Amino acid sequence: MNDSSPLIELCPTTDVPEGGVVKVEAAGLTLAVFNLGNHFYVTDDACTHGPGSLSEGCVAGETIECDFHNGVFNIRTGEVVEPPCMVSLRTFETAVVGEKVFINPAGRPLA
Ligand code: FES
Repeated sequence: MNDSSPLIELCPTTDVPEGGVVKVEAAGLTLAVFNLGNHFYVTDDACTHGPGSLSEGCVAGETIECDFHNGVFNIRTGEVVEPPCMVSLRTFETAVVGEKVFINPAGRPLA
C-alpha cells in the first residue's frame, strides 16, 4: 500500500456478514465490500458486463455471480471466472483499522 494515499472509510466490519457482500457508496465510488473468512475485499459494485450490481449477486467461495446474466468473477483478484463477462473488475487494496473497513482509493493492479 502506498502510504501517501489517504484511506477512505467504507463501513464497520460488522456490516458485512461472513460470506456476504454489501454495497457501500463513499467518495464518489459505488463499491461491493466482501467478507471472506473475516478478510475483507472490495471491488467496484457495477458489473463490467452490463447493469448488474454485484452486491445483489451470489457469493460462492471466492467468487461472485452477477444476478443479471450470471457472469462470475474472482472476488480477490477481480478476474473473470465465467462468461459472459469479458473484463475484470477493478479491485482495491483494503485495510481494517479499528473495526472499520478502508480502501486505498488508488486501487491496485489486477493480479
Ligand atoms: S450484467 Fe453482470 S453478467 Fe451481465
